Amino acid sequence: MKVLSLISVTCLIVEAFGASLPKAEINNRKFPESFKWGAATAAYQIEGGWNEDGKGESMWDHFTHTNPSVTDDKLNGDVACDSYHRWREDIQLLKQLGVSVYRFSVAWTRILPTGYLDSYNQAGVDFYVTFVKELLANGITPTATLYHWDLPQVLNEQGGWLNDSTADRFGEYARIVFKNLGPYVKLWSTVNEPKSTCMLGYGDGANAPGIKQIGTAVYQCARVQLLAHATAYHIYHNEFAAEQEGKISLVIDSTYNEPATDSEADVEATDWETQFNLGWYAHPVYVGNWPQIMIDRIGNRSALEGLPKSRLPAWSAEELEFVKGTHDYFGLNMYTALRVSAIDEPEIGDSSYYSDKGTATSFGADWTPSIASWLVVYPFAMRGLLNYVWNNYNPGEIWVTENGVATNATINDQFRVDYLQGYLSNMLDAILDDGVNVAGYTTWSLLDNFEWARGYTQKFGIISVDFTSENLTRTFKDSAKWYQRTVNTYCLVEECVE
Ligand SMILES: *[C@@H]1O[C@H](CO)[C@@H](O)[C@H](O)[C@H]1NC(C)=O
Ligand SMILES: *[C@@H]1O[C@H](CO)[C@@H](O)[C@H](O)[C@H]1NC(C)=O
Ligand SMILES: *[C@@H]1O[C@H](CO)[C@@H](O)[C@H](O)[C@H]1NC(C)=O
Ligand SMILES: *[C@@H]1O[C@H](CO)[C@@H](O)[C@H](O)[C@H]1NC(C)=O
Repeated sequence: MKVLSLISVTCLIVEAFGASLPKAEINNRKFPESFKWGAATAAYQIEGGWNEDGKGESMWDHFTHTNPSVTDDKLNGDVACDSYHRWREDIQLLKQLGVSVYRFSVAWTRILPTGYLDSYNQAGVDFYVTFVKELLANGITPTATLYHWDLPQVLNEQGGWLNDSTADRFGEYARIVFKNLGPYVKLWSTVNEPKSTCMLGYGDGANAPGIKQIGTAVYQCARVQLLAHATAYHIYHNEFAAEQEGKISLVIDSTYNEPATDSEADVEATDWETQFNLGWYAHPVYVGNWPQIMIDRIGNRSALEGLPKSRLPAWSAEELEFVKGTHDYFGLNMYTALRVSAIDEPEIGDSSYYSDKGTATSFGADWTPSIASWLVVYPFAMRGLLNYVWNNYNPGEIWVTENGVATNATINDQFRVDYLQGYLSNMLDAILDDGVNVAGYTTWSLLDNFEWARGYTQKFGIISVDFTSENLTRTFKDSAKWYQRTVNTYCLVEECVE
């Protein structure tokens, strides 16, 4: 997680909080037998053990330790769900759920504490090897994310995701992980949600490393993360894929976007919105180069600002080729939707991503808000976005690597049950009626956990964690029980038609 917090929020019907969701008809057909069910987490959000067994400081350790106010509750991930010690218990929870896949992330700073090869930490490697073996012994397929926002602080101090050489460091780290975990892990994601890393970490500064350069750094960050992704992809394919036979791709987060009206201007603005979000990362990988509208608009606005070159870094011909085609599937994190309107051209002088984008967004009046300001419930968004990705990027196979909702409920989370049922119903429509090949789904999240700048105030888990209890007690919520039935029956309702 997470998608942007910067969307302009209108039409929020606050009275709808807690009300039950409008229930469209829920699909009563079965998911294909080959469909893979799972749950997802990320290292910094659940592991704790932040400085144990040789682990180095990540930029999130540094960010939260330096200024506790960066999170709503002034808390951090030092302990989190303590999964670094309680991982055997987590595996038993997965087994109890009946899922066949677990999507977790590897903490770079356990493997290379400084980000450099000479800091190699065998204890970190051993931890993950033991962990994936235990997953397999319990019948659960591990899928691993190499980077879920926890950059080594030493690399951050050298420019982090603004420094091209971070892509090379990422490749070196990825090679170690492939070599050691590759015999067990067959589905990889390189970088999780590069847009959120860049926009929140380098644009509005709410996330680590807290840089606020919304018109410049966000574009350089995108470039370096895409180079890092492509570097790891090529290392995997050149050195490991033949023997290990796995798949590797980027994981991109996106809203589903609808025009506010059917006017030509709003329809065009909706395309711009999509290109400036989803296309920003998907186009270089699945088509080649930045979306043309980004090249044109940022280029033209930069020229009018009197800059010698575009704030959107140009790729060399060699880099274009290096990034293009680096995918074995499409990893999609999807939560929510936006209505998009055209606006007058923003004045020159405000060099911001938002002016570059040149659109306005809001929520549909009939969409249900959640406790997260950016996340509204609109189940059709799942079908709409899956079709968009399928038709525009031709990925062959899609994994919905994250999907879920925040609630305040500890155990009785009917809101989340309704959310998952609605979104999965729309996913099934996409699979059965639209021919979209969705191979698997890893819900966000297995556990309540450290929700970045929101601290522990927003709970995304289907399993609750009592953060005040001695043993960080895990308890199935109603949604976990619902999901358990679903993954065991491949059916979203009590009984499916055969
Ligand atoms: C980029 O990182 C390299 C080390 O990988 C370092 O030598 C260089 O100074 C960094 N550049 C900047 C601008 O920080
Ligand atoms: C940007 O400027 C070029 C000419 O320099 C023009 O062809 C193009 O239409 C402009 N694009 C936009 C989106 O304004
Ligand atoms: C959820 O909890 C937060 C923090 O305790 C509170 O501010 C908010 O009003 C609650 N929202 C709902 C819908 O209960
Ligand atoms: C926590 O776990 C330990 C070790 O299993 C156990 O001895 C202890 O009784 C537990 N505490 C609580 C409150 O359940």
